[in-house]
Amino acid sequence: MRRDRTNAPGVLDDVEVAPGEPLIEVEDLHTHFEVGGGLFSSSHASVRAVDGVSFDIRRGEIFGLVGESGSGKTTLGRTLLGLAPATSGAIRYRGLDLATLTEPEFRPLRRRLSMVFQDPNASLNPAMTIVQSVGHPLRIHGLTHNRAETRERVIDMLERCGLAPAERFLDTYPEDLSGGQKQRVVIARSLITEPDFVVADEPVAALDMSVRAKVLELMMDLKDDLGLTYLYITHDLASGKFVCDRMAIMYLGQMVEWGDASRIYDDPQHPYTRALLEAVPLPDPARRGRDKHLPHGEIPDALEPPRGCRFHPRCPVAFEPCGWEGRDLVDAIEDRWTKVDEDTFERELSLVGDLADAKVTRAEARFPAAEADALRRWLEEIGPALPAKVFRGVESVEQDGHEVVVRFGYGPEPAPQDIAGHTVACHLHGVVPREGGIHAGPVRGSGSETGSGSARERGV
Ligand SMILES: Nc1ncnc2c1ncn2[C@@H]1O[C@H](COP(=O)(O)OP(=O)(O)OP(=O)(O)O)[C@@H](O)[C@H]1O
Ligand code: SF4
Ligand SMILES: [Mg+2]
Repeated sequence: MRRDRTNAPGVLDDVEVAPGEPLIEVEDLHTHFEVGGGLFSSSHASVRAVDGVSFDIRRGEIFGLVGESGSGKTTLGRTLLGLAPATSGAIRYRGLDLATLTEPEFRPLRRRLSMVFQDPNASLNPAMTIVQSVGHPLRIHGLTHNRAETRERVIDMLERCGLAPAERFLDTYPEDLSGGQKQRVVIARSLITEPDFVVADEPVAALDMSVRAKVLELMMDLKDDLGLTYLYITHDLASGKFVCDRMAIMYLGQMVEWGDASRIYDDPQHPYTRALLEAVPLPDPARRGRDKHLPHGEIPDALEPPRGCRFHPRCPVAFEPCGWEGRDLVDAIEDRWTKVDEDTFERELSLVGDLADAKVTRAEARFPAAEADALRRWLEEIGPALPAKVFRGVESVEQDGHEVVVRFGYGPEPAPQDIAGHTVACHLHGVVPREGGIHAGPVRGSGSETGSGSARERGV
């Protein structure tokens, strides 16, 4: 199913998409938020919440988006529904590019594209009765013509959502309901306009453990009964395996691994996916005794994502071409100083000076030093021993007047590659630069010069 771009959403009713065919097709989508100046740009900067994702969601499937907080899951979901404006790229829904629509053009489509939010308390207006809340979208879209008709549709949907007999709930307020009942109301409201695509943003995360499974089960049943397609957003990779047909692992605005959910779960190829899985506290004997923690460090700022592979500062198997940069060296020295004894710290501090005075760019770190030659020798000596492996990316250490300049080499963003039946973006499978990725600093050589063998050869 393909057709030319058109700005006439009314004709969508004629566009048939068979089960298993792409209902949503996303191509190189970016959603950036303009904010104040950042580290490398003083005038204006943007948070790259979604930064170049391409995938499709097939009719009738549950497509999972998994990742840590701040990885861009909600922003991607909101962009697909026109709730956050795309900066660039395409979102085709039944062949129509949503990213190009104006708000008035988008409005009639909203009843077909729906969202369930995480927190039912924040989603429901406490001053509206349940029948008012659930019936509201019907009135907005002009789908019913009088109160009796609205009431009848609300009763039907509440009962489908497990709130029966519905009459008991119609004139109550959210505060009269339990958390699970409130989320059922939210689901009823999101489905009352008969959408065919639903973004469910952590729909059970705010609920008690005891009701999570029941609400998820309800959503799966409704999917089958009403012919829905879901984008299911979650932090929880383990639940993703059971709920999703396919899924994507997101990190700092990009997808790092995507494809069949059980393949990814059973045979993860990306170090970040492996780290997420190892952090899952499952009673799986095969995984018992393994490290249950994510790699060190917080997820970095989406304002200034790391160069090359965005995961490199935390990746346990990062190597030469993964995108090392000036700030990694400063961070590594800072980290070293938290661990060495007082005398060593004082000696090294007098040599390096205050780290705040280092001039850091993506391509280099410049240390102003009274004894530049001694500092250069020290860096060459301690560099290879730094646990962060940042020295693997160093191209040269040179003296430039009263400064020592550490320059970093080739470090492209990894391109997606098909590995083990799904898609993975990681240099371990061969250094393949991503088109249009960030290439700052002196780029030299080719992928084959810098790649150091296959993942198997590297023992990972
Ligand atoms: N309106 C906004 N303005 C500026 N930055 C934003 C805005 N909305 C989101 N962001 C930033 O975009 C990035 C992605 O946020 P998003 O909420 O999409 O992540 P998430 O994966 O859904 O996280 P969580 O799991 O915590 O819900 C974050 O750095 C966030 O601070
Ligand atoms: S490209 Fe792969 S090996 Fe390199 S830092 Fe990223 S995840 Fe780790
Ligand atoms: Mg979110």
